[in-house]
Amino acid sequence: MMEKRPAVFLDRDGTIIEDRGYITSSHEAVLYPDSIEALKQLQQRYRLFVISNQSGVAKGLISEENLEAVNTDLDSRLRSEGIRITAWYMCTHDTGDGCICRKPNPYFLLEAEKKFGIDLKRSFVIGDHPHDPETADDVGAFGLYLLTGHGMKHLQELPENRMVFHSLSDAAAWILAHPEHKQYLQKSIREGAAAVMRGGLTAFPTETVYGLGADALNPDAVKKIFAAKHRPFFDPLIVHIAEKGQLRQLIKELPEKALQLVDAFWPGPLTLVLPKSDAVPDVVTAGKSTVAVRMPLNPWARQLIQEAGTPIAAPSANLFGRTSPTTAAHVKEQLGSSCDVIIDAGACRVGVESTVLSLTGPEAVILRAGGIDKRQIEAVIGPVKAGTADNDGSRQAGSERVDISMSPGLLDSHYAPQTPLFVLDDVTEAAEDPETGVILFEEPKIEFAGPVEVISRNADLSSAATNLYAAIRRLDTMQLRRIVTHPVSDEGIGAAVNDRIRKASTKQ
Ligand code: TXA
Ligand code: MG
Repeated sequence: MMEKRPAVFLDRDGTIIEDRGYITSSHEAVLYPDSIEALKQLQQRYRLFVISNQSGVAKGLISEENLEAVNTDLDSRLRSEGIRITAWYMCTHDTGDGCICRKPNPYFLLEAEKKFGIDLKRSFVIGDHPHDPETADDVGAFGLYLLTGHGMKHLQELPENRMVFHSLSDAAAWILAHPEHKQYLQKSIREGAAAVMRGGLTAFPTETVYGLGADALNPDAVKKIFAAKHRPFFDPLIVHIAEKGQLRQLIKELPEKALQLVDAFWPGPLTLVLPKSDAVPDVVTAGKSTVAVRMPLNPWARQLIQEAGTPIAAPSANLFGRTSPTTAAHVKEQLGSSCDVIIDAGACRVGVESTVLSLTGPEAVILRAGGIDKRQIEAVIGPVKAGTADNDGSRQAGSERVDISMSPGLLDSHYAPQTPLFVLDDVTEAAEDPETGVILFEEPKIEFAGPVEVISRNADLSSAATNLYAAIRRLDTMQLRRIVTHPVSDEGIGAAVNDRIRKASTKQ
C-alpha cells in the first residue's frame, strides 16, 4: 500500500496564469512571474493538480479543443521547468447546469483521492474566487484565497475567517511553513495570548496592517514596544479591544457621537480618540489625557485579545518611520528578533492603517485618513474636520490649526522605504531610467526601463490600498536609485493612499 500523499489543488486563471477572460489559444495564457518558483517549491512536498471552472465551453465561447490545447501547452511549459501537474481537472458546465464537478463542489478532489491516493485532510486549495477555498471545506482540506486575478473584486464576499495572500508565492510559503494548518493558527494565537499575559510582545494580523501588541494595562510590557520599534515615547499607541463592552473601562466618558460610530463601524478600521480613564497607563497615551481605541475586524486579532483577557496596545509592527507590514514576513524582516510570537495569518485585507478620529473637542477631527473615509463618517455623525488631507505643512484642519502634539501620526515623514520615493504628477518622466522603480495605479501606457508594480488595474482604490505597502517593500529591496509614483483620486480610501505616499516620500 502506497503512503497517501497530500496535494495542492490550484485554480488556473487568476491563480497560475493571468486572468484574461475566456482564452482560446495558448499564447493568451500568461504565467504569473512567480508561478514557476512557487510550484517548484510546493511540489517538493505536495502533488499538484489544477482545477478550473471553464463555463465558457458550455456558453459556446471556447471549444473543448481550445481548452485542451491551452492546457496541453501550459503543461509542457511547466514540464520544461521540471514541474509535474498530476491532472488537469476542468468543469466545462454552465453556472446553472447543476453539475457535480463545479467548484465549490469537491468532486475533483474526491477523484484525486480515489485515483492517486491523495490525503485530502493534509491538502490545500488555492484560488482567486471565493468558491476556490470553499471547495476545500467539506473534505477537510484547507483553502487559501489569492488577491490576484479576480481576488480583489470578490473580496467583499469572502468570509472574514478566510486567509488571503498577495500572490501564489506568498500562499506557497505559508503552506510550506505551516503544513499542520488546522492546528497552526489556534496554537499560535494561544501562544501569542500567553506571551501578552506574561508581559511579552506578540505580532498579530489586523484587517489594516500587522500590529506589535502588548498588554495595554502593563506599562513595562508597553515600554518594550517602544524599544523594539525605536519609537519615541511622545507618540501614543492605539488600544485594541475584542468587544464593544471593553471600551468603557478605558475611557472617562462616551459621547453620543462615539456611540453612533461604534455601532456603525466596529469592528472595523476606525480608531476613536476619547478622554481616557485612569486604567490606561500614561506610557500608552504619551502622557495625554486621551486614549485611542479600536476594535479590529480581523477575527484572529479579536481572538488574541479575548484569550489574553486584556486590551492590547499595538502600533504597526515596523521600525519607527518605516513602511507598515501587511504580511507576517514583513514583520519578521524588521522586528523578528523582538517578537515573542508572530501570528501568521496571511495578508491584511485593507492594507492601510485605520482612520484616527478625535472626539475630544467640540468638533470631530480626522487625525489620520484610513480604512473608513470622511464621507462614511459624516453620513453617521454629520460634518467632521480633516486634519490630514490638507495637511501641507501649515497643518490646517478647516479653519483651525491642528497642533502637531494632537496626534504625532501627523508627523510629515512616515511610512518611508529606504530608497527615496517621489510622488510625481507625471511618472513618464522616469520611463528611461532602469534604476527607477515605478508604482502605478493603472496599466502602463508606455514602457518603463525599470521595474514596475501595477497595484490596481484601473485605479481601483481598494486594490491600491491593499497592495501599496507590499509594492513599496518589494521595490525597496531592489537597490534602486529611487521609486516614483503618482497620486490617485482623493475619493474614499484614496485619501488614505495619497496621505501615505506623500508621507513616505522624500521631501525635496
Ligand atoms: O490600523 C491601525 O490603526 C494599526 C493596527 C495595528 O491597528 N495601528 C497603527 O498604530 O497604525 P500606529 O501606532 O502606527 O498609529 C497610531 C496613530 C498615530 O498616528 C498616533 O499618533 C495616533 O494614532 N494616536 C494614538 N493615540 C492618540 C491620542 N491619544 N491622541 C491622538 N492621536 C493618537
Ligand atoms: Mg481564478
